[in-house]
Amino acid sequence: MPTREEITYFGAGPALLPTDVLQNAAQALVDYNSTGLGIAEHSHRSELATNIINEAKADLAAFLDIPTDEYDILFMQGGGSGEFSATVYNLVGAWVTRRRQDLLRQFADNHDKVEAELRRAVDEDLKLDYIVTGGWSQKAHAEAVRLLGPDHVNLAADARTVNDGKYGKIPDEKDWTLSRDPALVYYCDNETVDGVEFPAFPASLAPRPDGTGPIVVADMSSNILSRRIPVRNFSIIFFGAQKNVGSTGITVAVIKKTLLPPTTPQPEPALLRKLGLPIGPIVLSYETIAKNNSLYNTLSIFDVYIAGQVLKKLLRTFPDKVDGQQAVADKKASLIYAALEAHPETYRIVPDASVRSRMNICFRVTKGGDVDASEKAFLKEGTARGLLGLKGHRSVGGIRASNYNSIQLEGAEKLAAFIREFAKA
Ligand SMILES: Cc1ncc(COP(=O)(O)O)c(C=O)c1O
Repeated sequence: MPTREEITYFGAGPALLPTDVLQNAAQALVDYNSTGLGIAEHSHRSELATNIINEAKADLAAFLDIPTDEYDILFMQGGGSGEFSATVYNLVGAWVTRRRQDLLRQFADNHDKVEAELRRAVDEDLKLDYIVTGGWSQKAHAEAVRLLGPDHVNLAADARTVNDGKYGKIPDEKDWTLSRDPALVYYCDNETVDGVEFPAFPASLAPRPDGTGPIVVADMSSNILSRRIPVRNFSIIFFGAQKNVGSTGITVAVIKKTLLPPTTPQPEPALLRKLGLPIGPIVLSYETIAKNNSLYNTLSIFDVYIAGQVLKKLLRTFPDKVDGQQAVADKKASLIYAALEAHPETYRIVPDASVRSRMNICFRVTKGGDVDASEKAFLKEGTARGLLGLKGHRSVGGIRASNYNSIQLEGAEKLAAFIREFAKA
């Protein structure tokens, strides 16, 4: 059996964590900071736990330049999949609140009129826009349809329509059919399964000069902390921790404070019930989690601690913060893509060059015509060299090298060398 030092693990998530972080965490599990009690045993209500939460929030904000006077950082549970639901519940609620506030201004105290107009607005105008570019945004879209019904959910773009029924391209923004005043515009910044990453923030979703603009929600589960984000363009950014941030068990939501009280309180459940809209579980309520500094219910402080240690290490390693990490991430991805491109007779990169993910590098091994046999041989030889976790997602097959932050430059170099040697063999 290989040792940890002998392998490079390219799994898509859970992913590799820095060894020194794990070593410290192992010690912290037994005895945290000489308290005689392990980190997973301390109360989540203790001062020590609150400090861990607040430091992780501050370090995340520092690394990504998140303006904390405008954004709150929440530690949630339920994974990225939980956020597919949370974003719907919370932003439909926020949309109803905004409409109701407008109607109250318009019709003053005529509550019957307000109620009738609100009902009409929900029936006719409530829309959620989804840009579907891969398996994860497809799932998020499906969840919105499941919760609200198809009439309220607008598939504003479906990448399969521009690529022979498969993911691998992003439709031209001029062809997106965005709604007027949608409750949200949703996209997945990096599609982990399909290896498709938005090259930049979509220009058509940018705020207007007066500061207004669409309510943009992005799933950044698999590329967070790997490049600079124009944070102010987003209303919500969410990500599961288990790829670039830490261990499985917490999900982070970065949310614009204007979507929270006092500006935008969630509607009363009774009102939502009257309007025929779903009422979300309390543990997915951003308002509730924000009000309680992520401690509405028992949170895994151990997972927050791990994320915090990863962030501290990043801040120590990169004085220029995320820009430094971005340069390394880009370099590692270029090395691997260059090796693949050097051998078109052996490899076919799955996504179009314009949208290739720097984090999840998806390709087929076409050498010799028998793709299945070639890919099996590639995986077997890779394993023998300590290059593990390269099998593509079960839904699409092929090879996927997940090039997250914890893959060192040498790891990417080893993979690139193997790609070249396998082609030549
Ligand atoms: C981009 C993206 N979004 C969402 C998810 C779902 O995350 P979870 O399994 O934590 O629900 C994943 C999982 O791999 C993902 O890669």
